[in-house]
Amino acid sequence: MSRTPYIAANWKMNKTVAEAAQFIDTLLPRIAATQADVVVCPPFTALTAVVERRYGTAVKVAAQNMHEEESGAFTGEISAAMLVELDVEAVVLGHSERRQFFGETDEALARKVPAALAADLEPILCVGESEEARDGGETETVLERQLQTDLAGVDSVALAGVVIAYEPIWAIGTGRVATPEQAQEACAFIRDVLRLRGAAADEIRILYGGSVKPANAAEILSQPDVDGALVGGAALDAEDFAAIVEAAG
Ligand code: PGA
Repeated sequence: MSRTPYIAANWKMNKTVAEAAQFIDTLLPRIAATQADVVVCPPFTALTAVVERRYGTAVKVAAQNMHEEESGAFTGEISAAMLVELDVEAVVLGHSERRQFFGETDEALARKVPAALAADLEPILCVGESEEARDGGETETVLERQLQTDLAGVDSVALAGVVIAYEPIWAIGTGRVATPEQAQEACAFIRDVLRLRGAAADEIRILYGGSVKPANAAEILSQPDVDGALVGGAALDAEDFAAIVEAAG
C-alpha cells in the first residue's frame, strides 16, 4: 500500500512572525513540485502569518500543542476551536519536550487526541522511548503503553485520521539519529499495535523524528514503514527543510 509521504517542520519555540514569513517565502518555490504532504508547525504567535502565506499551496499548518477542554479557566492554554478558527489543520500532541518539561501525561493525551479529531484537527501524536528504556530492552513496552493509553478514546475508524510520530528521546536534538533499521523496526511495531486495535493500519502515516537532516533523510524515508519525518533543528532553515521534502519525493 502506498502512503503519501508526510514531512513536518517542528519549529518549537523558534521564529518570530517576520522570521516565519521569510521561511515560508523561501520554502514555497522550492517545494512546488512535491507530491508529499508538507506541514509547518509554528509557535502559536506565528500561526496566522504562515496560514495566510500558504493559502493556495499544498502546505498544511499545525500547532504544537492544545488543551483538551473546549474553554475555561486554563490560563495560558489554547483550545482546538481557537486553532480551527485560524484555519490551522493539524496539531502536534505529546511531543517528548512537553512530556518531559511541562508534565504532559498519557492521561491528558487520551483526552487531547479525541478532542482534536472532534474539531477536525489532524493529531500528530508523538511517542518514543528514553535512552534508558532502549538500553533496558523496554522500547516496545513503552511504545505500546503510550499508544494504548493515548489512543484509548479513539475508535478504529477515527484512528485512520491520526498521524503517529516515532521520536526516540535520545535522538531528539542530539545529532544522534536512529539507524534506518531502528527507525523501521519501531515504526513497524507501531503499525502492528495499531492493527491490533482494529485500525486500517496500512493507511496510517507513521513518521520518524530525531536528528533528521538533508544528509540522512533519504535513507530513513526509504524504509517501508517510515512514511515521513518530524524535523526539528533542520527545519529551522528553509533550504534544509526543502531538501528533506525533496528526499521524500
Ligand atoms: P530534531 O527534533 O530534529 O531537532 O532532533 C525533532 C523533534 O523534536 O520533533
